[in-house]
Amino acid sequence: MHVLITGGAGFIGSHLADELLRRGHRVRLLDNLCEQVHGGRAPDYLPRAAEFVRGDIRDRSAVVAAIAGVEAVAHLACAVGVAQSQYEIEHYVDVNIRGTAVLADVLANERHDVRRVLLPGSMTAYGEGAARCAACGVVRPNIRTAEDVAGGRWEPRCPTCGREAASIPTGESAELRSQSIYALTKRTQEELLAHVDRLCGVPFVCTRLFNVYGPRQSLSNPYTGVTAIFISRVKSGAAPVVFEDGRQTRDFIWVGDVAATLSELLESGRGDHGTFNIASGRATPIREIAERIARLMGVPIVPAASGTFRFGDVRHCTADISKSRDAFGFLPRTSLDEGLAHLVRWSLSQDSRDGFDRTLDELSRRRMLTRTV
Ligand code: UD1
Repeated sequence: MHVLITGGAGFIGSHLADELLRRGHRVRLLDNLCEQVHGGRAPDYLPRAAEFVRGDIRDRSAVVAAIAGVEAVAHLACAVGVAQSQYEIEHYVDVNIRGTAVLADVLANERHDVRRVLLPGSMTAYGEGAARCAACGVVRPNIRTAEDVAGGRWEPRCPTCGREAASIPTGESAELRSQSIYALTKRTQEELLAHVDRLCGVPFVCTRLFNVYGPRQSLSNPYTGVTAIFISRVKSGAAPVVFEDGRQTRDFIWVGDVAATLSELLESGRGDHGTFNIASGRATPIREIAERIARLMGVPIVPAASGTFRFGDVRHCTADISKSRDAFGFLPRTSLDEGLAHLVRWSLSQDSRDGFDRTLDELSRRRMLTRTV
């Protein structure tokens, strides 16, 4: 199979490329090597066996050329960052929505041999995860506002009776309640490509990824995911900053497990026309991530909870992975212990630049960081 990976120089795209090559497929990568992630340079890890094309997903002629001769497209070109998306609105909409619209338009109107399109969607599309209220049963709490969390009342509440509601796994049929511009763009990407499936018969599979971690997540991009940010903080001798009280949770999934699953779906078509959660199915508190990283790096740093709330963050969202398990035997294989140890080992051989204080200043200036306790 010949596969085009848009955003193929990125964190997840490059692991997918390695996995597809290992399985004997031909791979073409389209990537604009954006400054914030790559500093405009092709990363050293790019597989030599893949064909690399520098180009932007918003450039129709680049997409038409990149799609020539391929049988499957994995669409990973994307501006990534929940907090940053809240003020760089035009940029996130342009890259994520217009970029996907260009791809959709090319698939709908140009001649091609594409038999399958895969999009890694995002858990952020759900908004606050599902919860159980002792009085009202299963509920979907609203996103927390500054007033909600004032005085450290961090936990989401039942939208009906106002009691604290306990987090439970969220399944794919949950209503999408995107709470950030980034989430909105990921959700729109899903809808655009599902439309092309219905209208033009190009089968589409959407994998809603939860928090993916592993080597190659940029250690110098302060807008990246929490594990990479914590590692670059500790490497620079500073304590990780844990927002809220640190007991907010995320569902972490190892990038190698993601790459293997996406490859399997591209090969087999077992997910076609469907949407699937890809996650570990386990909730881990963010404070625990900071503590584990400091321990693995042998640094006696105690992460302090900031007591500040990053506007737009959800408190909890853990995946129900039963649909993926039943449909194509999905099984997360790498434990958090193994994964974090591997990630920390990798990070020690990498340059990193801790730009976190700058992003904190930026968030405060834009009043997106609320001090609540
Ligand atoms: C992340 C990804 C998003 C992906 C989604 C899927 C990034 C930037 N975001 O969003 O692309 O679609 O997972 O699940 O990679 N936190 C701290 N201290 C920090 C940084 C973060 O306490 O220095 C906390 C945040 O407040 C939040 C949690 O860690 O509670 C996770 O934050 P983050 O890594 O930015 O991820 P998501 O917003 O979950």
